[in-house]
Amino acid sequence: MPQNKVLIIDYGSQVTQLIARRVREAGVYSEILPARATAAEIRGADPGAVILSGSPASVADEGAPTLSPAVLELGVPVLGICYGLQLLAQALGGRLARSADREYGPARLEVTNPSPLFEGLPATARVWMSHGDRVDQPPPGFTVLAATGDIQVAALGDDSRRLYGVQFHPEVHHTEIGAGLLKNFLKLAGLQADWNMASFVERTLASLKDQIGDGQVICALSGGVDSTVVAVLLNKAIGHNLHCIFVDNGLLRQGEVAEVRDNIARHHHLNLTVVDASELFLSRLAGVEDPEKKRKIIGHTFIQVFEEEAAKLGRVDFLAQGTIYPDVIESVSPLGSSVTIKSHHNVGGLPEKMNMALVEPLRELFKDEVRGVAAELGLPEEFIWRQPFPGPGLAIRVIGPVDRAMLETLRRADAIVQEALKTSGWYTKIWQGFAVLLPLKTVGVMGDGRTYENVVAIRAVNSVDAMTADWSRLPYDFLETLSRRIINEVKGVNRVVYDISSKPPSTIEWE
Ligand code: XMP
Repeated sequence: MPQNKVLIIDYGSQVTQLIARRVREAGVYSEILPARATAAEIRGADPGAVILSGSPASVADEGAPTLSPAVLELGVPVLGICYGLQLLAQALGGRLARSADREYGPARLEVTNPSPLFEGLPATARVWMSHGDRVDQPPPGFTVLAATGDIQVAALGDDSRRLYGVQFHPEVHHTEIGAGLLKNFLKLAGLQADWNMASFVERTLASLKDQIGDGQVICALSGGVDSTVVAVLLNKAIGHNLHCIFVDNGLLRQGEVAEVRDNIARHHHLNLTVVDASELFLSRLAGVEDPEKKRKIIGHTFIQVFEEEAAKLGRVDFLAQGTIYPDVIESVSPLGSSVTIKSHHNVGGLPEKMNMALVEPLRELFKDEVRGVAAELGLPEEFIWRQPFPGPGLAIRVIGPVDRAMLETLRRADAIVQEALKTSGWYTKIWQGFAVLLPLKTVGVMGDGRTYENVVAIRAVNSVDAMTADWSRLPYDFLETLSRRIINEVKGVNRVVYDISSKPPSTIEWE
């Protein structure tokens, strides 16, 4: 019996992760392997069904990724999407036609033949296309299931072998019948909808107990959702053998240390050490102007402090980390070569140096799933929906050299921004919103006197993945409230400006 999961083979489409997420939203666990996965890896995954992704490549390109014969040898249902459909058709004896132009955008799909794949779905629907090549003649045994005005073979299938292909993209939102079609595929594959965060927590607790036994585990709490969820999970699994370390680097926002220590650690009975290393961080940052230098100093100092604390614990067997699935998936370039796996979550070579094994209980999860686990574990709603906050913290939001006084000024201004965003409801509508302290002085007038003080910039952006971003159109009245409150309440600030740059060419952070 294959496992109750879907294997997605990634041929380099921009939206492969979306396929994995849609399958999981339908309640079935899914995982992604790159196109160059070996037959042994594919067999080892032991999936109950396979989905072949799209690709920016053309099947006819030299060096274009090919369909591993191991996929069809599994004997499980296969759904090819776009490029995946073409690979499937080509491998089974169909004929492809190459076209010079890429068809891109919405199309009207007409279902022409009944099939379990389209069961219960409307006979016509808007679908999203993005392809160059198309199938001209289906392979023997296949029936054309749907067409559009432009192409004859928009979907095909062989019900007896449970092999299907669609030229459009069911995983994108614009395809009206996308979720229904994927559900139908999972159903015809006989897969059970057993993937949810409650069952994840249950299974993970069992496997953590198994993996760790009575070993000692250390975990760096950053104050973010991922590391906190890891800590709470581990605490439930192994209790007092978990040691959490939270390094106060002096670069955190107002109330952050208390939030982690009092609201979370105390509530969840975490075995937590808070190390106040702010003096060390700030002394090393003194006079440093270059943002990349700041980042390096902060990274190295963190490792040093963490190591010193870890050494006090004696023998430690495991290091727990909040690595999540997008960090694990290899990004695949269209022609098959792989790009290195992101390693930013790794606490700089610590595991090898200290002879510890890694524990990464969130490795399989997307960010929204981590939030689901956080809710399942009873973490506060407000904490779960926290906006991203960079590791180097406020050090990269005080422009130029950082000192305690400037950090305190920024902290106060930022607290006003955070509070106002939350009470107005804007907090959850934008990607990130925060204050930046500029090290320049401008003239103002307050009461009867002239002032000569700092400028605070407000940055608020909309984004889906932080790769690109647009400045948020916050209402003038709201901005006015922010400006008035910051200038009135924060000593040392007499001017507030709003950042109206998009990314690219700017970035979200100012440093
Ligand atoms: P940029 O400024 O590059 O930011 O547009 C994109 C996203 O990444 C966050 N960011 C960081 N996160 N360490 C982090 O952990 C960093 O050095 C860092 N720099 C930027 C930023 O807040 C935004 O969400």
